[in-house]
Amino acid sequence: MALCDSVDIPVIEDAAHSLGTTWNGRNIGTIGKVGCFSFQSYKLLNAGEGRILITDDDDLIAQAA
Ligand SMILES: Cc1ncc(COP(=O)(O)O)c(C=O)c1O
Repeated sequence: MALCDSVDIPVIEDAAHSLGTTWNGRNIGTIGKVGCFSFQSYKLLNAGEGRILITDDDDLIAQAA
């Protein structure tokens, strides 16, 4: 994150398998600019198929919607 932040590269976290997990006290998926989770049938939360992205960037989430 320090390296990417230093050159303004936004990090997209592939957190497909990591729902509810933490790293160094941080929720996985909230460390980068965007966190992506999968709800495909083999993942922790099975929706058959499905995904979600999370971010604290209002403009980005509006574009995604
Ligand atoms: C690490 C990882 N990222 C992304 C994906 C893609 O998720 P989805 O099948 O919901 O598109 C998977 C699916 O297995 C995965 O294991």
